[in-house]
Amino acid sequence: MTESSTRLAAYLDQRRRLGEPGLVPAELEPGEILRLLRARAASGPAAVERAERARRRGRYDERPSGPARDGADTGKAVADASEAGRVGSADYDALRAAAMACTRCRLAEGRKTVVFSDGNPAARLMVVGEAPGAREDATGLPFVGQAGRLLDLMLASVALSRRDSVYICNVLKCRPPGNRNPQPDEIESCAPLLKRQIELVAPEVLLAVGSFAAQWLTTSRQALGKLRGKVYSYQGVPLVVTYHPAALLRNSGWSRLAWDDLQLLRQVMDGR
Ligand code: URA
Repeated sequence: MTESSTRLAAYLDQRRRLGEPGLVPAELEPGEILRLLRARAASGPAAVERAERARRRGRYDERPSGPARDGADTGKAVADASEAGRVGSADYDALRAAAMACTRCRLAEGRKTVVFSDGNPAARLMVVGEAPGAREDATGLPFVGQAGRLLDLMLASVALSRRDSVYICNVLKCRPPGNRNPQPDEIESCAPLLKRQIELVAPEVLLAVGSFAAQWLTTSRQALGKLRGKVYSYQGVPLVVTYHPAALLRNSGWSRLAWDDLQLLRQVMDGR
């Protein structure tokens, strides 16, 4: 047995023991998920582009360190791509530069840094969270506080890490004051950046953590407890949703459900 089939067997056994009638509580049929994954694996250009980007960056390290880098090319990219219409066709560097210089909503006034991403842009899995908090705003990296440490543990429980197998970003790139919820107009202003970011990273699987990411990616208004437990499709990319780690820190009763979500994620990633 391979490692993934052993893990799957343990997972199925666990669900059976819990009396789960549907072993794969998926909105997409497993066959459909497999078809999507195979189609993406066969879609050469995205894979080639990912590999090329990873090579250019000396593999993963794109850790941001404050505002856009100096230099004539970057300056031009900012000027070009910060126009909303241009974001939709920006390449990765221009998109990041546009985000770093973005003043499209009020959050630009209070931020210290723009938090664009962390992890490996060539990863198969893209995690989308809600918005930066104080530590993320100070460091320019998503999920570096307490919730981030839990997220890393959650990912590690299914053999994933931001160092090499995950790309992480948020719905909002700037910190809402006092860590309040993102406002609808802020989400709308930031959405073209996220949309293009997903297109360019071209992940094989998406994981939404928390209701803001889950609702945006599924275009549903349902609460997370109703959304979780299924596999969705975002523009043809299989999407799993789970609780935000900050919510899990407040409510440990959801941990078992989050564990199930991670097993579902692993299944999808293993093409089962
Ligand atoms: N919560 C999020 O959703 N994103 C972060 O980057 C940090 C905390």
